[in-house]
Amino acid sequence: MNIESIIAQMTLEEKAALCAGATAWTTTPVEPLGVPAIFVSDGPHGVRRVPDANALAGSSLPATCFPTASCLASTWNVDLIREMGQALGDECIALNVDVLLGPGANIKRTPVCGRNFEYYSEDPYLSGEMAVSLIDGIQSKGVGTSLKHFAANNQEFKRLSISAEVDERTLREIYLPAFETAVKKAQPWTVMCAYNKLNGTYCSEHHELLVDILKNEWGFEGLVVSDWGAVHDRVAALKGGLDLEMPGPQERRVKAVVEAVRTGNLDEALLNESVRRILRIVFKASQTPKGGKFDAAAHHALARAIAAEGIVLLKNDGTLPLKNGQRIAVIGRAAKEPHFQGGGSSHINPTQIDIPFDQLRRVAGETELTYAEGYAVDNSSQQSLIDEAVVAARAAQVALLYVALPTFKESEGYDRADLDLTAQQVNLIKAVTQVQPKTVVILNNGSALAMSEWLGGTAAVIEAWMMGQAGGGAIADVLFGKVNPSGKLAETFPLKLAHTPAFTSYPGENGQAHYGEGIFVGYRYYDAKEIPVLFPFGYGLSYTTFAYSNPAVSASTFKDVDGLTVQVDVTNTGAMAGKEVVQVYVHDHKSNLVRPPKELKGFAKIELQPGETKTVAIHLDWRAFAYYHPAYQQWVTENGGFDILIGASSADIRCTKTVTLQSTQERPSILNRESTPREWLDDPRGKRVFEPLLENLLAQMATLFGSGESEDGAMGMDAMSMVMDMPLRDLLQFRESALPAPADEIIDGLLVQVHGHAR
Ligand code: BGC
Repeated sequence: MNIESIIAQMTLEEKAALCAGATAWTTTPVEPLGVPAIFVSDGPHGVRRVPDANALAGSSLPATCFPTASCLASTWNVDLIREMGQALGDECIALNVDVLLGPGANIKRTPVCGRNFEYYSEDPYLSGEMAVSLIDGIQSKGVGTSLKHFAANNQEFKRLSISAEVDERTLREIYLPAFETAVKKAQPWTVMCAYNKLNGTYCSEHHELLVDILKNEWGFEGLVVSDWGAVHDRVAALKGGLDLEMPGPQERRVKAVVEAVRTGNLDEALLNESVRRILRIVFKASQTPKGGKFDAAAHHALARAIAAEGIVLLKNDGTLPLKNGQRIAVIGRAAKEPHFQGGGSSHINPTQIDIPFDQLRRVAGETELTYAEGYAVDNSSQQSLIDEAVVAARAAQVALLYVALPTFKESEGYDRADLDLTAQQVNLIKAVTQVQPKTVVILNNGSALAMSEWLGGTAAVIEAWMMGQAGGGAIADVLFGKVNPSGKLAETFPLKLAHTPAFTSYPGENGQAHYGEGIFVGYRYYDAKEIPVLFPFGYGLSYTTFAYSNPAVSASTFKDVDGLTVQVDVTNTGAMAGKEVVQVYVHDHKSNLVRPPKELKGFAKIELQPGETKTVAIHLDWRAFAYYHPAYQQWVTENGGFDILIGASSADIRCTKTVTLQSTQERPSILNRESTPREWLDDPRGKRVFEPLLENLLAQMATLFGSGESEDGAMGMDAMSMVMDMPLRDLLQFRESALPAPADEIIDGLLVQVHGHAR
């Protein structure tokens, strides 16, 4: 297909029309030139294909509802997620969908974000790897994806208007890397811009974000699509790099674009660039023949396997795995009315649903099961339901308490007010655990919950997330040990909401949310502030145990460009086969800008039979050691020591290796008029020109402030410590009368020697 020749033949009206949808879910065809329309659908954990392209919502065609992103990330299993992507690709083909709107790669800045269930993690590295796998899987089938919501869409409250106020370093290190990794490694066909503003500019018009960073710096080849209704000024959005506006039709806006080109307000070359990007995707999509059937049974089985692997065993006193033949009281509505997906645009019409209670009966064999509802659908306070549950729990040997956070508390479109279950649910757990010490709580929710109020009384707790349509079976598999749990938390569970990093700045005010916690998001924050948590990032129990031994690194001193390979032996020291997630964190001994105590930079999931040992090798490239320096406007590596922390969670580091990095970066100097003597000496070029002046300067300062050698110099202070961190210019000004020239001139002279010009 010769796209350039098509563009040359297109009228201005056709070009403008192509840049907006024709319907809620289709692009605009250009029939005379043989340009077809493509069909897009939500996403991300299933295909929400509405039969009528003009209907935004409404009942969609049956499709497999896989577990949502929180559960996927907790698997830490990139191969499994890729497999799920392939299944999604097959379903898109069968349901006539060209592009699936997902995955979501936004960071869980605060656990209260109502849409956290659709996002992977508080950690950018893990989020990025998950997104890559899902995209790779889907796109391997010739179906496109839409990486969303770009960027800093971290709350639902005022999501259409709030301005996320994020400093450059935080953006680069926390909120962008998952997108960056996904774009560079997997090239999603489309990227969806977020509704919100970023630092005052709508993401739909954000040139720096969409053009400078996404398209130019990262080399994104696909098209940028708006979130549904995120465009306000179509011409400004085109200029900002937004190629396709959805949903359609948008006749007025199409006319505005035509008008803008005619009046010279919009360069047609710019419009052509968006047309080019859209055509490339339209023709790519049309190469994949659509139709046919997908294997619903196989996909249901896959959904079950994924759910089982994403389930996190949070607590276990030995009650789990359950033994056949025990009398079990099953309590809680969620056992019969499973809460397996979240509310909003990702809502799937499942092909079938595994009812947890029925699945339990199948897996449990001869076991006697009773049932009590425990809480009503509206979660109103009803003591009679609690009383009933208590009677059932007392009569049994084990109580299984299925508790789902209701949709009125958590969904797309609004945030949570707290981290709690409902009052009825908490009272239910407390009452049941009082009479039945062997109570296992099974949770369905999308993000961290506070549990301190009731955790102590339980025997075991299972975080089953929004587990997809086959989750009921997955829970039974884990409870009875048919599957050994291996999920690990992709987000910290704090002790309480007030401990969370964004607590004082969420949800923002006057239209702005200041990301005041900066790079200290999730475990980066709890680690740095030494705040105890309920369950740490990376944590999850197993029915077996793993020992780590023989840690090794490929070199104790290494060049940044070469990276480093980390290796460790892991042995299954228990009696049951199981899977372990080996996590590698990096700790920088010393850096010029503050860094979190540790950051996840690699992981691997392995399966081990009892007694078996495997060697895990994980490669860390230079970026694993770098941080983003706003003054250089680039990722920097600095010489010096790093600890390589190999662990079973962020709080359970099993082995440490210390290495030395040699930076090969040649960075420009960032010395300026306000740089201090210490900074001049730290800068190789600065040092050369400044050192000859140093001795004289220090002598003068000693005269001025007293000697730095004793703590009680003339002014009762260590003057030299102060002097080393004062701007050199100011220091010179104190002695200006003794200088041959004004301080500013001397500084500028030095700066010219360093930069070739003053700064
Ligand atoms: C959501 C997107 C979704 C789109 C289409 C928006 O409200 O934010 O994630 O893809 O609707 O349903």
